[in-house]
Amino acid sequence: MRRTLIAGNWKMNGCLANNAILLADLKALVNPQESVEVAVCVPSPYLAQCRDLLRDTTIMLGAQDVSARSHGAYSGEVSAPMLQDFGCRFVIIGHSERRSYHGETDQSVGLKTVAALAAGLTPIVCVGESLAQREANQTEAVVGEQLDAVLDAVLDTVPAAELARLVIAYEPVWAIGTGKTATPQMAQEVHAVLREKLAARNATAAQSVQILYGGSMKPDNARELLAMPDIDGGLIGGAALKASDFVAIINSAV
Ligand code: PGA
Repeated sequence: MRRTLIAGNWKMNGCLANNAILLADLKALVNPQESVEVAVCVPSPYLAQCRDLLRDTTIMLGAQDVSARSHGAYSGEVSAPMLQDFGCRFVIIGHSERRSYHGETDQSVGLKTVAALAAGLTPIVCVGESLAQREANQTEAVVGEQLDAVLDAVLDTVPAAELARLVIAYEPVWAIGTGKTATPQMAQEVHAVLREKLAARNATAAQSVQILYGGSMKPDNARELLAMPDIDGGLIGGAALKASDFVAIINSAV
């Protein structure tokens, strides 16, 4: 049985004072549940602060990007071993904002995923189509190609059974930060396609991979989305910045 993962993606938001308030509120409000895992993916400068504040809680820590290299002359980059050093369990890879504003390609996403796995992190690999691609009926082809690139890269280095260590996030680009959400049926269709693609590589691992939905998931739509058979959690942007909203989403998964 897959556990539900609710991961907050703070994006480039927060400051020392506000992070402390948000995490104190989450610590007070999140009820540890056997069936639900909770994580916050924070900007790199705040990893140490958040690691310290989350010590002795069940809320896990994640980052929002990682270098494909482990160390060396790569100014500005943060490596997977460094994230590991700061207590990260997760790292988001290939978010559409990084694909569109930072030139990330399917290939770089694949290499970063391999680097994260090698350091013992759990990559949350994002895939998703633009509005134009959805309207041209290209959704399955686009997300399929994005996922295949990652699977090819990973399977070059690890046995197929280890695909179970991946988390995938389906985030339709047109739904991110827009208040437009995929309907539960629309999301479920894509999630089922993603799971079939995983199963084609390793049927057993595919059953364990958590496939999250992301894109304007809010307290008022989370329950319906999370009730779908192949939606195993959420990657939450805007609503993760408000403790009451984030906790309401977590509680709709229980
Ligand atoms: P949103 O962002 O919940 O604000 O739409 C989700 C994401 O980009 O991960």
